[in-house]
Amino acid sequence: MFEDSTFTLPRTMLWSFWLAISLNFLGGTVGQLHPREPAQYRTLPSLREQALILDRWRDERVARIPELLKKYNVDAWLVILSLPISQREYAEDTIWWSIKDATEFASHRRTVLLFHTNSSSLAGSPNPLRWVDNTGQVWPELRSTLRAYNPERIAINVDRNIAFGGGLHVGEWDVLHEQLGDSWMEKIVNQPMIGIEYVANRVPGQLQYYKMLQETTWAMIEEAFSEQVIQPGVTTTEDVEWWYREKMRFLNVSTWNHPRVSVITPESFPGWAGTKDTIREGDLLHVDFGITAMGMNTDTQHMAYVLRASEGETDAPVGLKEGLRKANRMQDIALEKMQAGKTGNEVLKECLTQMDSEGITGQIYSHPIGDWGHAAGAVMGELRILPNTYYSIELYAYHFVPERNETLRFRIEEDAYWVSDKQGWQFVRGRQERFHLVNWASNLNVQALQIQ
Ligand SMILES: *[C@@H]1O[C@H](CO)[C@@H](O)[C@H](O)[C@H]1NC(C)=O
Ligand SMILES: *[C@@H]1O[C@H](CO)[C@@H](O)[C@H](O)[C@H]1NC(C)=O
Ligand SMILES: *[C@@H]1O[C@H](CO)[C@@H](O)[C@H](O)[C@H]1NC(C)=O
Repeated sequence: MFEDSTFTLPRTMLWSFWLAISLNFLGGTVGQLHPREPAQYRTLPSLREQALILDRWRDERVARIPELLKKYNVDAWLVILSLPISQREYAEDTIWWSIKDATEFASHRRTVLLFHTNSSSLAGSPNPLRWVDNTGQVWPELRSTLRAYNPERIAINVDRNIAFGGGLHVGEWDVLHEQLGDSWMEKIVNQPMIGIEYVANRVPGQLQYYKMLQETTWAMIEEAFSEQVIQPGVTTTEDVEWWYREKMRFLNVSTWNHPRVSVITPESFPGWAGTKDTIREGDLLHVDFGITAMGMNTDTQHMAYVLRASEGETDAPVGLKEGLRKANRMQDIALEKMQAGKTGNEVLKECLTQMDSEGITGQIYSHPIGDWGHAAGAVMGELRILPNTYYSIELYAYHFVPERNETLRFRIEEDAYWVSDKQGWQFVRGRQERFHLVNWASNLNVQALQIQ
């Protein structure tokens, strides 16, 4: 999904990095291909089976937390999940959504979790220690646990900028202060990377299902951007957006963002609202949408060309194909430069230099994806790119299209996963390298046959 930075967040907080530079294009494309076979709609397991799978993934992720505490040099992480009374149960810490049981939909009691490093007096105890409480008994117990364990640095979620490390409700902060007193509060630290890495972390079992979600996403695009859904001169971009929504209902998946379908023109950017056009022959179409299922999200942008079937056209104009090729080359550059451990700024600079040397103008704005459409572990400023996570590679290339005498933005987005230090990132289901074609001629033929 494209977010206009000035509209949503101050630039320093962007869950994305982006850049702009100019010139002309040289290289061909390497990298992962457009799948040869059409995508199929994939059926997910029953909800009951999904719940078992989701809780297993959650347990695997939670088991990594003690390592994370050591990595960031803290002894404990105190997570307070909600205040039960006074109708405050909908002010959950953002972390709650990534830690809850699959069958929980709101946190009904104050839940206090104390993650620890398994050392000294807590070695071998459950991790986290958990209090679910309506009565206030949690506080004396927590104090006595802390006295025995004696952590030097206790992280809590109070970061000013990052939701995944800043979800402690201000009312809970007051209660915590009151109950722990100054001597423990002096040991409190802000370390948002614990929450960020916890939410960003993928486990191997997720990939198989993420691939299914990606294939379903592609299958939807292939159907939407075809003569099965679009009749030139009749169907509007909004009709196609609602087609996506209804199709999701049919497929038992939901979304985190209303689909946006646009006719690409020099004026149609940024397109975070889609355009309101009747689709015509010769249009370059764009979709930006994602689906949500099994605690994961997708975010994909593809383009389509509406053949001038009434004039016998059978393929997209060369100028458009070259624009897509240029955007593909930018994907190669982004994946190559996004090595884990580099900061967002380092990646940005390297992409910029490479694009410059190849004479490509455009913007890249990638973001983590996973538990959320815009997930934790952002490539921004001095934050480092994390491995074991998914990223959405979102970008556009400018390209002058001689056939139309105009410069257009070729906007594509695919989700990638971390394979290994050696292999780096790979697209979960390849990438778009050719236009989806709306070919109304085939429908004209069908109608002609029916008339006979
Ligand atoms: C959606 O859920 C219904 C009810 O469980 C099921 O019959 C149907 O096959 C599902 N559809 C898809 C495409 O998975
Ligand atoms: C911490 O202790 C628990 C309980 O003994 C154990 O299951 C877990 O593997 C330990 N974690 C680490 C990182 O040592
Ligand atoms: C192409 O567009 C430019 C500027 O929009 C215009 O000045 C020029 O006349 C156009 N060329 C043709 C061949 O239409």
